[in-house]
Amino acid sequence: MKAIIYSEYGSPDVLHLAEVSKPAPQDNEVLIRVHATSVNFGDLMARDFKNITPRKFNMPLLFWLGARLGFGFTRPKNPILGNEFAGMVEAVGAQVTRFKPGDAVFGYRAQNMGAYAEYVCMPEIGMLALKPAPMTFEEAATVPYGALTALALLRKVNLRPGQKVLINGASGGIGAAAVQLAKHYGAEVTGVCSTPGLDFVKALGADMVIDYTKEDFTRSGETYDVIFDILGKTSFGRGRKALKPNGCYLYASFKMKQLLQMLWTKVAGGQKVICALSGERPDDLAFIGELIEAGQYKAIIDRRYPMTQAAEAHRYVEQGHKKGSVVITVWNPDTPHGSQTMSAQAQTTSVLETVRTLQGAKS
Ligand SMILES: NC(=O)c1ccc[n+]([C@@H]2O[C@H](COP(=O)([O-])OP(=O)(O)OC[C@H]3O[C@@H](n4cnc5c(N)ncnc54)[C@H](OP(=O)(O)O)[C@@H]3O)[C@@H](O)[C@H]2O)c1
Repeated sequence: MKAIIYSEYGSPDVLHLAEVSKPAPQDNEVLIRVHATSVNFGDLMARDFKNITPRKFNMPLLFWLGARLGFGFTRPKNPILGNEFAGMVEAVGAQVTRFKPGDAVFGYRAQNMGAYAEYVCMPEIGMLALKPAPMTFEEAATVPYGALTALALLRKVNLRPGQKVLINGASGGIGAAAVQLAKHYGAEVTGVCSTPGLDFVKALGADMVIDYTKEDFTRSGETYDVIFDILGKTSFGRGRKALKPNGCYLYASFKMKQLLQMLWTKVAGGQKVICALSGERPDDLAFIGELIEAGQYKAIIDRRYPMTQAAEAHRYVEQGHKKGSVVITVWNPDTPHGSQTMSAQAQTTSVLETVRTLQGAKS
């Protein structure tokens, strides 16, 4: 099968298309023909992990060490990136009962990666669920990472209807999902990102947006029940002014300092710091699928790239200006043979067009 592989850490240039062995499913596994995968934070980090110093890593030193050993100390252990995908079940192992050939599915491989390939095998009890009908394969392939992470983290703060939530980093993979999930739980949501992402975050359903390049939410005088800081860009010391007396400061990215603040605020009472790891559950993906079916969760694609242009896809995401998800189309059964390598330019969907359509549908 074809896969995008890398054998050394570095810039997007380390990615190239190669012929590798097609996996065969074990008795408890499902073989999936991948239609689409995505480029997200995890792919960029794993591709260039040698250059991610402990300082650049948004987690404590021990986590960095664990990740470095996991990904490979001097060169990548797993040559294929890609943590999320959507595709079609091609074959199932002898003991599989939940899926059958022909099922359209989407799934999450977390740090196991491997989805930048024509085929993947997944345990049937893994993070795998039927693809929601309203989404295309490309849209569904962009959902699992952000949705599963945001869902698991938001669970730690037990959101209730009417609560006010601020999401710092609302235009990214986790933030975009958190905006939609917080709305689903009945919260009033304020999304914070830079200027290019404002329309995108509004289109996801945020009640208010703040441009962090122009306004500091910690000085606005507004207070929130939950402040969810995805990249850990704000300190609890300053940010607590924007937190209600019993509010929670939820960090998806944190260092030792925030862990100590978590311990201290647990003992002291009042405002709390929560540093959480996602710990996704397989049932969560089916739940996200139900939200999509009910029209309560959407995917907005910024750009699509064919497998041959995976390096360009990484370069584009690395520039930091994406407004929505970036997809790598692995196989499109509706596309005539030979046009799987259509240029990214030709396949680029205008995200503003999508945003306008969604805004039109809302009003
Ligand atoms: N706790 C866990 O279990 C867990 C799991 C997975 C990942 N993570 C952590 O989550 C982070 C990645 O999140 P992601 O995938 O959502 O990243 P992402 O897709 O790269 O998005 C990052 C977002 O942060 C925004 N941002 C950048 N600088 C900012 C600032 N100064 N103030 C406010 N927002 C800012 C960006 O917005 P603009 O583009 O508008 O600047 C972008 O929307 C990593 O630090 C990773 O370690 C944690």
